[in-house]
Amino acid sequence: MSKGLGSAVYLSQLLISESVKEGGIAVDATAGNGKDTLFLARLVGPGGRVYTFDIQEEALQKTRALLEEEGLAKRAIFLKAGHEDMERMVPGPVDAVIFNLGYLPGGTHALVTRAGTTVKALRSALNLLRIGGRIGLVVYTGHPGGREEYDKVVALASTLDGNRYRVVKISFINRAANAPVVIIIEKAGAPSESHAAEQNS
Ligand SMILES: C[S@@+](CC[C@H](N)C(=O)[O-])C[C@H]1O[C@@H](n2cnc3c(N)ncnc32)[C@H](O)[C@@H]1O
Repeated sequence: MSKGLGSAVYLSQLLISESVKEGGIAVDATAGNGKDTLFLARLVGPGGRVYTFDIQEEALQKTRALLEEEGLAKRAIFLKAGHEDMERMVPGPVDAVIFNLGYLPGGTHALVTRAGTTVKALRSALNLLRIGGRIGLVVYTGHPGGREEYDKVVALASTLDGNRYRVVKISFINRAANAPVVIIIEKAGAPSESHAAEQNS
């Protein structure tokens, strides 16, 4: 059952789903418990591949177990590596990259995503993305380092060339100030007529 607009992960997946083609390539930059990897594995179908990254063996084991339960493990490539290295480990172009930042739910808070490596990974994801592909980020600010990471991601995303990238930010405006924020980036082709028309209006 859908969690509807109350779930940042659901909103990110909803907007990513349109960009992933059957037979395509997608990246889960933060495997964690494997839910985003499973979501992407369903979308790419039997001929596609999901490259899934985590620095924790525990996270990759959970992700593999979840995909095995669903009979989809062959669709994923499990990489115990930092997502900041994705550009040399993933053959582009890719349909989508999902980041669910922060720490592994139920795991150690020491192995958390960090501003510097997240920004490096986001730049790599932008380079790997095909035209029309999308990056989805779910960003948390409530833990130590979370606000700095959020600020750096927003600083990069908000300065991307508006003719080449469409960028939206979704926030829960009637929840606590530290509720998660969803950022979606789409790589555009040539400037579209509708975009030009909107800019002129
Ligand atoms: C919020 S969890 C991801 C949740 C996951 N998407 C899911 O569906 O369950 C964040 C994960 O990022 C991982 N992580 C932290 N730094 C990383 C890095 N540099 N590269 C890849 N993964 C990293 C953590 O180990 C943790 O498992």
